[in-house]
Amino acid sequence: MNAVSVPTVKLRSGQEIPQLGLGTARNDDATTRRNVADAIGLGYRLIDTAAKYENEVGVGQGIADAGIPRDELFVTTKLRGSEQGYGSTLQALDSSLERLGLDYVDLYLIHWPLPRLDRYVDSWRAMEEAVALGKVRAIGVSNFLPEHLDRLAAETTTVPVVNQIEIHPQFPNRELIAENTRRGIVTESWSPLANANDLLKSPVLDEIASTHGCSAVQVVLAWHLHQGLVVIPKASHPDRLRQNLDVFDIHLTDDDVARIATLSTGERSGGQDPATHEEF
Ligand SMILES: NC(=O)c1ccc[n+]([C@@H]2O[C@H](COP(=O)([O-])OP(=O)(O)OC[C@H]3O[C@@H](n4cnc5c(N)ncnc54)[C@H](OP(=O)(O)O)[C@@H]3O)[C@@H](O)[C@H]2O)c1
Repeated sequence: MNAVSVPTVKLRSGQEIPQLGLGTARNDDATTRRNVADAIGLGYRLIDTAAKYENEVGVGQGIADAGIPRDELFVTTKLRGSEQGYGSTLQALDSSLERLGLDYVDLYLIHWPLPRLDRYVDSWRAMEEAVALGKVRAIGVSNFLPEHLDRLAAETTTVPVVNQIEIHPQFPNRELIAENTRRGIVTESWSPLANANDLLKSPVLDEIASTHGCSAVQVVLAWHLHQGLVVIPKASHPDRLRQNLDVFDIHLTDDDVARIATLSTGERSGGQDPATHEEF
C-alpha cells in the first residue's frame, strides 16, 4: 500500500487537522516509538499523546525516526490534571515540548476539566499565552461538558478549536457533538473502537462489514468519518495501523447507519463521567 493521503478538517484557528490519526494511550515509550514511526510511514500525520500517557519521549523518537518535515505533522499533547493552574500549565507545556523534542505542538488540550479543582479557566488563560509565545499552534479541550465550555466563553476570549470526547457506537454522545458544532468546535472521538471491547464482536457490524468487504473495525471508523468527526484509533501492530487507515473508500448507507444506531447502550466504556472523573 502506498502512503495514504488523509483528508483534513479545518479548525476555527485556520489550521487543518487530519481527520484520522494515531492514538497512543497505554503504550510505553519503546512501543510508541515503533508505532509512531510505522504509522507515519503508512501516511498517518496526526499523532495524539498526553503527558499522562508518559510516552511523549517515544512519540518524539518515533517522529525523529520517521524523518519527514515537521510541518507535515500534526502533534497533539495534553495538560494533565496535576499541572492545572496558570504557571504550572506553562511549565507543563515546556516539559512536554522537551520530552517530545519539539519546538511547538500543533494542538494542546486540557485533558479533563476536573471541576472540583476549579483551575481550568486559569489553565486556559495560560494556554492562550502559550499560543502568543509560539509554543502551540492551537488550543482545545478534552472531556468538556457544555457547562465547562460556557465558563470558558464567559471568562476568557478564545473558543477551543477542538473538544476531544468519548464517542463510539455504544456511546454516540450525540448531544455533546451537537453542542460542539453549535459553538464552532471540532469534535474528536476518543476510544473510537470502544477500546476493542465486545462492540467489535457485534453481529450487526459483521454483517455490514461483509456487505462492504471490510472488517468490523473499519465499519466503526467509517461511522466516525461519516459524521465528520476526527478520529484517533490506537493500534500497536503494522497490519492494524494499515487496516485502520484504509477506510476512506467505505461509504455507509443510511440503512447501515440506522443499524449501527441500535448498538447504543448509553454506557461509557470506562465509566468516566467528565462531571466527576478525576485523574492527575
Ligand atoms: N482525551 C481523553 O481523555 C482520552 C481518553 C482515552 C483515549 N484517548 C485517546 O484516544 C486514543 C484511542 O482510544 P483508546 O486507545 O482508548 O481506544 P480505541 O482506539 O477505541 O481502541 C484501541 C484498542 O483497539 C485495538 N485495535 C486497534 N485497531 C484494531 C484492529 N484493526 N483490529 C483489532 N483491534 C484493533 C487496539 O489493540 P492494539 O493496540 O493491541 O493493536 C487496542 O486494544 C487513545 O490512544 C488516546 O490517544 C483520549
